[in-house]
Amino acid sequence: MTDPGRALITGKWKDVGRFKGPMLRGLAGRAPYFHNGSAASLLDAVNFYDVRFGLGLTDEQKSDLVAFLRTLYRRLRPNRHPPARDTLRHAATAAACRHNQRGSRPA
Ligand code: HEM
Repeated sequence: MTDPGRALITGKWKDVGRFKGPMLRGLAGRAPYFHNGSAASLLDAVNFYDVRFGLGLTDEQKSDLVAFLRTLYRRLRPNRHPPARDTLRHAATAAACRHNQRGSRPA
């Protein structure tokens, strides 16, 4: 799945892919963050938004946000999945797979 960009708001074809945010899935496995790697950690990224947009987040809110962002990553468990060339992408796919397997089992 990828971000449709601004088209999500305007519904216009010409806006597909305009102002596109990066996928946050697998985030904790690919520091540093932003196109120039300016945020070394998730807390740095959260602090960036806090300052840039004057959010006034408390330390607790920041650590809650970081904890949430960390949940978007699942480390590959050895022997459970074949090695993949793109391990990060694979980690995300494998996590989704496990989730689906659990979800599809009869109760
Ligand atoms: C507190 C709210 C937000 C959090 C916690 C957050 C988190 C993040 C993180 C962790 C990244 C780095 C992703 C990476 O390097 O792979 C990122 C990048 C980005 N985010 Fe956000 N985001 C927030 C709000 C927003 C909003 C409101 C927008 C758009 C209006 C936005 C647009 C973007 C864009 C365009 C990038 C790529 C920037 C670059 O690569 O330099 N984000 N965000």
